[in-house]
Amino acid sequence: MRMSFNRIIALYFSPSGKTEQVVTEVGEYLSHTLGIDLKCIDVTAPSMREKEIYMEPDQLVLVGFPTYAGRLPNKILPFIREKLHSEQTPTIALVTFGNRNYDSSLTELNEELLNNGFRVFAAGAVACQHAFTEKIAGGRPDERDRKALRDFAAACKEKLQSVHEADELDPPLIRGGKPVGPYYKPLGLDGKPAFFLKAKPLTHPDLCSRCGLCALVCPMGAIDKNDASLITGTCIKCQACIKKCPNHAKYFDDPAFLSHVAMLEKNYTGRAEPEFFIG
Ligand SMILES: Cc1cc2nc3c(=O)[nH]c(=O)nc-3n(C[C@H](O)[C@H](O)[C@H](O)COP(=O)(O)O)c2cc1C
Repeated sequence: MRMSFNRIIALYFSPSGKTEQVVTEVGEYLSHTLGIDLKCIDVTAPSMREKEIYMEPDQLVLVGFPTYAGRLPNKILPFIREKLHSEQTPTIALVTFGNRNYDSSLTELNEELLNNGFRVFAAGAVACQHAFTEKIAGGRPDERDRKALRDFAAACKEKLQSVHEADELDPPLIRGGKPVGPYYKPLGLDGKPAFFLKAKPLTHPDLCSRCGLCALVCPMGAIDKNDASLITGTCIKCQACIKKCPNHAKYFDDPAFLSHVAMLEKNYTGRAEPEFFIG
């Protein structure tokens, strides 16, 4: 008897929405072609990362995170490490990146999931519009990416249909088995390191309508609900508040951050293609 699943679970952290698009494209293809319900678990909001999450063996799981500084977002890593559990649930690991490089993020996600009992058998890294600027890979994932994601989903389905038990699924060999490397150190336009760890979004007082949406969408819960100009927690530079503010009231003016963005816009104009690995 072939493996059967009662549900597909798509879990993602996606402050600016691209990882969600990538994971749901693969999830929806598998859901339609296998005839199984798809349930999405969006762990972008801090409240969604409080409880432990257990995946059942009869589920098919997709997990997606963005690349930050060539790795998984370091402030979210404790959640992945401590709250996500599975007992050999067949799993597809996905990362997105902003057309520079995904460096070690996919290897790190694969390793963290394997350590927590997920049976990762396929993985992919997909270039998307950079959260910092629409001038890098603007509009991606585009139709060509979506086709590549559906082809990857079809290959995952074929793999699943070729085995009878989860323990016949092998982990993917990502980038030739290269180990997880250090975090990428951002550079400025002058080629020197750009330090902007402490940069925070500012608020145009005349444009802010005090609707509180920025505080609601901040994945770190770092913005004061009653005064959006107050950053009371850690800003991870994800750009959720900037992108989702209906009045365009949020912005960064940190010179080192802006210099890094300018460097990216100058140097990463070529199209990075998605890469997929199946065990
Ligand atoms: C803080 C931060 C660091 C990033 N670091 C990288 C990186 O090292 N390499 C890269 O290609 N893209 C990088 N990106 C771009 C994101 O990986 C990309 O925009 C991703 O698709 C965002 O996912 P989301 O739309 O689901 O939030 C970074 C983005 C942010 C916000």
